[in-house]
Amino acid sequence: MASLMLNGAHQNPNLISGIAPNGLNFHNKCLFQKGVLSHGNKLRVVRKNFTPKGSMSASSSSSSRPGSQPRFIQHKKEAFWFYRFLSIVYDHIINPGHWTEDMRDEALEPADLYNRNLRVVDVGGGTGFTTLGIVKHVDAKNVTILDQSPHQLAKAKQKEPLKECKIVEGDAEDLPFPTDYADRYVSAGSIEYWPDPQRGITEAYRVLRIGGIACVIGPVHPTFWLSRFFADVWMLFPKEEEYIEWFKKAGFKDVKLKRIGPKWYRGVRRHGLIMGCSVTGVKPLSGDSPLQLGPKVEDVKKPVNPFVFLYRFILGTIASTYFVLVPIYMWIKDKIVPRGMPI
Ligand SMILES: C[S@@+](CC[C@H](N)C(=O)[O-])C[C@H]1O[C@@H](n2cnc3c(N)ncnc32)[C@H](O)[C@@H]1O
Repeated sequence: MASLMLNGAHQNPNLISGIAPNGLNFHNKCLFQKGVLSHGNKLRVVRKNFTPKGSMSASSSSSSRPGSQPRFIQHKKEAFWFYRFLSIVYDHIINPGHWTEDMRDEALEPADLYNRNLRVVDVGGGTGFTTLGIVKHVDAKNVTILDQSPHQLAKAKQKEPLKECKIVEGDAEDLPFPTDYADRYVSAGSIEYWPDPQRGITEAYRVLRIGGIACVIGPVHPTFWLSRFFADVWMLFPKEEEYIEWFKKAGFKDVKLKRIGPKWYRGVRRHGLIMGCSVTGVKPLSGDSPLQLGPKVEDVKKPVNPFVFLYRFILGTIASTYFVLVPIYMWIKDKIVPRGMPI
């Protein structure tokens, strides 16, 4: 029944187009009701059972946003509108600077996707760039792409190798899948927009079956002061130890982090990376995550002050343009500085 309904979702174009003007009017709640259907490269570093520094509350310290880290687009509504425009140029202009096919394949390798029958959910799947890497190993009919942006999903729908994937509009922090549903959970480049990343990872745990693997690919925090400033204004660039802690708190075992980055950066991480690591964990027991969370940080149904929204959206978008320039700067440096020398 579950898969039938998802197939229906794929066939129904309203699922990717019928969004209300204020955005985020998810249709997916009808797909499954919780409880009803018993719901790298050369710089590669793999860290096993990393010990996190410091501690965070169950809802994660990253969502508290101190004044020095306003993260204007780390919100569902702002992210929705951000991708309304970004989806137009995402595959051709934005992605090539941050997220290459080589990087994608390296990042997906720890997810162990080498079985065509695996049931995979790609959360924040957007235009399907990462899904194209998944369907190299898994039959497209077994893959569901979920995203909150119908504009991004519309691009995924146009891609021939993804024609058989199920396409669902929904929220990473409240997945419309039953508990113990999928063999693999993949999410690439989306966590930075989630107001409560711990909640998204806890959902990853819930929807996986026992022994299933979650693979979250995302940014890493810059150390160079100017890059750190723009990163913190734009969105969430987690520290490596934060990823590990979110996974462990959600209940995952065998948590590993693999560093990735564009080749022309030559391993430089001081400017941060929009796709800087691939974190994996294994679900050891069936059922819900042992972590109990309070109410959601952002309630999308709550009306927002349009001036506050516009202010956040404009400042966040301006900050993001810095990260369009960084890969170009690094590419030029890579061309100028002789091989073997630091850049
Ligand atoms: C940088 S794109 C990554 C797309 C794709 N995974 C890839 O690898 O190219 C981030 C995606 O996350 C989606 N997103 C952001 N917040 C989300 C949320 N709360 N729930 C679902 N999707 C979300 C955005 O709409 C966008 O399509």
